[in-house]
Amino acid sequence: MNSMPERKESKVTVFAGKGGVGKTTCAAAAALHFSLLGLKTLAISTDATPSLAHIFEIKAQGKPACVSDNLYFSELGTEEVTQMWDGKFGKDVYQVFASFVDIGYAEFADFIASMLPGLAEEFMVDYIRELQESGSYDRIIWDTAPLGQTLTLLETPALVSQHLRLAPRIYTKMKAGTGTKEPILDIIRRWEALSATDMEFLRRGVDFTIIAIAEALAVNQLDGTLGEMQRYGFKVSRLVINNVVKTADSPFLRQRAAQQQGYLSTIHGKYGHLQVTELPMFPQEVRGIEKIRAMAMELFG
Ligand SMILES: Nc1ncnc2c1ncn2[C@@H]1O[C@H](COP(=O)(O)OP(=O)(O)OP(=O)(O)O)[C@@H](O)[C@H]1O
Ligand SMILES: [Mg+2]
Repeated sequence: MNSMPERKESKVTVFAGKGGVGKTTCAAAAALHFSLLGLKTLAISTDATPSLAHIFEIKAQGKPACVSDNLYFSELGTEEVTQMWDGKFGKDVYQVFASFVDIGYAEFADFIASMLPGLAEEFMVDYIRELQESGSYDRIIWDTAPLGQTLTLLETPALVSQHLRLAPRIYTKMKAGTGTKEPILDIIRRWEALSATDMEFLRRGVDFTIIAIAEALAVNQLDGTLGEMQRYGFKVSRLVINNVVKTADSPFLRQRAAQQQGYLSTIHGKYGHLQVTELPMFPQEVRGIEKIRAMAMELFG
């Protein structure tokens, strides 16, 4: 009996955390690490103010842009998301509406986006899910915007799904012929199914690495962050504490290091069930392949 060929899916790791803690730098280091192992790797960002190109020190050419052997990166913007929406729903929904409302496509698309905030977020998740399923890469490293925004992005498929569950009740009461109602209901059902699929992808197809720093506020917020992740059923397997002072060779740094030690022992005590990695604070900012490689060594040994 012929066995089915195993379907190749990319492994996806999300780097998330609050603003400025080193998400993008760690994502770049992880992506470089996997590419050096010979795995075709994509670093992709859903941050509206992306900085991967800056950290890799290359001018982005094409999406994805090639950084080095096996290493690519891409910054997701409204263009890709709009294309995704147009292809999956936009044109269908428009056709139905245009049969009884005199409206141009661009205006219609703006109207839908304003009615359903989170539309862009859902289609970003969908974009990455499709990338994963295409198996074009062995690894996908997903760099995100600061956590508040990212949680909105991650919970959107569930919210859209909730919204769409109410929609049929309204649309069946619409004063339109069956010829118009049926396609709308069909679109709503398809969209609801897509939202469920995207949420499932976040729950099962994605692994989260949380980046934090050894400071009071960051440590206090960790409980909330991890709780939120758990509430949605997202899998966090790694916690990276960045900017740890390792060489305390001045009174200034000794004081910093002593303060960090307190927070670090709290973190190791509380989150021992996760893989906790301390990343040293480097004397310079981390930019360019060589510095990213040094960071990758610290992250992966
Ligand atoms: N371990 C480190 N040692 C020294 N500098 C670091 C370290 N980690 C990050 N940096 C520097 O800190 C700055 C912020 O890092 P990065 O852009 O990765 O943070 P971020 O969490 O992605 O920020 P944002 O929330 O704005 O996306 C960068 O200039 C980076 O070079
Ligand atoms: Mg960033």
